[in-house]
Formats: sequence, C-alpha cells, structure tokens
Amino acid sequence: MSTFDVEHFRKDFPILNREVYGKPLVYFDNGATTQKPTCVLDTISRFYNSINSNIHRGVHKLSDESTQEYEKAREVVRSFINARKTSEVIFTSGTTASVNLVAFSFGEVFVHAGDEVIVSEMEHHSDIVPWQLLCERKGATLKVLPFDDNGVLKVDELERLISDKTRIVAVAHVSNTLGTINPIADIVAIAHSHNIPVLVDGAQGIKEGVDVQKLDVDFYAFSGHKIYGPTGIGVLYGKERWLSDMVPWQSGGDMISSVTFRKTTFNELPFKFEAGTSNYIGAAGLATALNYYKSVGVETATAYENELLQYATKKLLAIDGVRIIGNAPSKAAIISFVLNGIHPYDTGTILDKLGVAVRTGNHCSQPVIDHFKLNGTVRASLAFYNTFQEIDRLVEAIERVKEMFS
Ligand code: ALA
Repeated sequence: MSTFDVEHFRKDFPILNREVYGKPLVYFDNGATTQKPTCVLDTISRFYNSINSNIHRGVHKLSDESTQEYEKAREVVRSFINARKTSEVIFTSGTTASVNLVAFSFGEVFVHAGDEVIVSEMEHHSDIVPWQLLCERKGATLKVLPFDDNGVLKVDELERLISDKTRIVAVAHVSNTLGTINPIADIVAIAHSHNIPVLVDGAQGIKEGVDVQKLDVDFYAFSGHKIYGPTGIGVLYGKERWLSDMVPWQSGGDMISSVTFRKTTFNELPFKFEAGTSNYIGAAGLATALNYYKSVGVETATAYENELLQYATKKLLAIDGVRIIGNAPSKAAIISFVLNGIHPYDTGTILDKLGVAVRTGNHCSQPVIDHFKLNGTVRASLAFYNTFQEIDRLVEAIERVKEMFS
C-alpha cells in the first residue's frame, strides 16, 4: 500500500469534510476544478482584509503593497514553470483566455490567407474554437492531428501534416477526457525543425509539473483553479521572441505607455497583454497554491495519483460492462468510462445521489466523444487528496447503478 500520508493533506481541504445527501463527499471532479487548501483561502481573505488596493496605479502604501504582492506572484509562477523571465509570464483569467490571446494576437501578425494551423483531435473546445475563428477570419485552414483508439496521438503523422504554410501547432499537455499525457518534447522537436511554434494547453497538465525551457514550448496556458488556486486567474507563458512581435489583445489601462488622440504606444512585456485591473488577489492566491503544491511535492503528488489511477483502472475493469475510454500507456489520473447500455448522464446522476461527484457528457471535447461514436462518458478525475477507499466507494456505487438498471 501507499506510503503517501493522504490523511495529513486532506486536513488542508475543509470542503472534503462535507456530506452530500447524508453521505461523505467523494470528490472526483478535479479535472473540472480542484478544491482549495486553507492557506489559499487565508491569502485571499488576508489580502482583502489588509492590503486591497489597485495595482500599478496609486502612490499610496496599500497600492504599493498590492503591486508588490502581484509581482511576487508572477515570480512564483515563473519559478514554478521555470520560465526565463517574469516578462514572459502574463496573468489572464484562465486557460481559455490565454489560448484566445494567442489565437488573436499571434494570429493577427503571423497567420494569413492560405496559411494552416494544426490542432490535435483530443483538444478541449477552448483549444479548437479560437483557432477555428482565427482561420475563418483570416481565410486559413485548420488541420487535425489524429489519435488512435487507445487515445495515443499519432505523432508520426505530424511530419506529414506540416507544410510550408503551417504557422502554429496547438496541443494539450494532458487530455481532459482521455487522460493521455502527450509527448510534448517530441511534438516540439518536429514543429521546431520546421521553425513552427507550439502552444501547449496545460489546463490538465500543469498538475503534472512543467519546465517550459526544458520542453522548449513557445506558449503554455493554464488555469489557477485546476491547481488548487482560485478561479478567474490563469497564466499565459510565452517566449519573448513571439510576445514582443504580437499585437495587444485587449486594450485599456495598464497596457499602454502613452495615449494621445493621435496615437497610442504600448507598455512593455508582460503588461502589454494585461489590460484593465488585473485579478491581483487571484494571482496572490495562485502563488500560495503553487507554493503549497510544491510543499506537497509535485512528483510525490503525481506518483500517488498514479497509484490511485492504477488501482481504479484495475477495479473498474473488473466490473462487468465497464469500458474505459483512453488507454494510453502514459496517463494522468483521469478515467473516462462507459457502462454498457446505461446513459452516462443516468450513471452520473445516481453516483451523485450516492455521494460520488463525477463529470458526465462530452467534457467540452466533442471530437473525442465522436471518435469513439459515444454519447458521452463518465469521468472520474483524481487529485492527491483522494483515497483508495473513495475508489472503492465509486466501485460500489457503479455496482448499485447496474443493479438499478438490470
Ligand atoms: N475543462 C474542464 C473539464 O474538463 C471544465 O472538466
């Protein structure tokens, strides 16, 4: 059995003590959002109670303290993802905003009529639709890198898909539906051999840990709320060589250097991409979350999640009628499954009544569901505060669903 002291860490997450329908909560919807440790909640409350003031604006003490906290948070993010400079770390509202920023600002400058953009077949809608809109706007073409029936990307086909018209490749670090951990370094190596930049959607991948310099990615997008931080804050990492040539995305205060009715000039990086009042309290909360996660240990947490994944996979496969969707050899702790003859929505609804929170449906990745000709899946997405006993609860609950439908 595991040596990971899960009970010690569970105490950091007050919500895990609650009950639903009179049963202890089993929270297996971490792919949608993770729960927050007390230290993150304390940071937010301390900020509002004692520091709150708008950043980069006032000459007064509180504004100065707020600004310092915000910029300290940027440094925490830089260090967590090992970016070269804080100027390459842009705060956004989340992964979706980060991808939209690049699709617009990179697209305006580098994508023209007749060009091509490549995305993978396993992308979340937020890493498909912004590129689709860009292609429509510019008269460019969206091409798709497929995956096989195990949920493994056919990386060998990337070479064939790339042409002298390809301007960018966008791919998920981890599939939110299949759990596949994609070979980002290999994808980057192929794209870079053609001088094509790569954007990585790290919404699910950030929990696995990332070194943007080692992977040599050009852009990496993630959300705070999927890594134990607050909602409404996210990050776009971008290499300066691209960011400096990209046009601003949103415009307004803070992103300018000078404004006259004749002409406006823009602020330096990263502020050029941070129009309006930033979510500085969210940024401070995210910094606390990243420091907390580091104190648990990214490798320790993911190794334990992998033990949970192996255990859950074995237990689920032992249930007659369960089929797991996504069987890549390299997987994060995300398990999508279907139950023979039972609609995923019905399964999810009954699991909920039995205290087990899962997500059902297409998980904002309809092409993945279409690939398997399904009407959806049930998804259990795990975190390091989950336990083997909770997986047993899921298994018992699935048996109950089967009984009810038999
Ligand atoms: N993208 C989130 C998920 O996969 C919401 O559930």
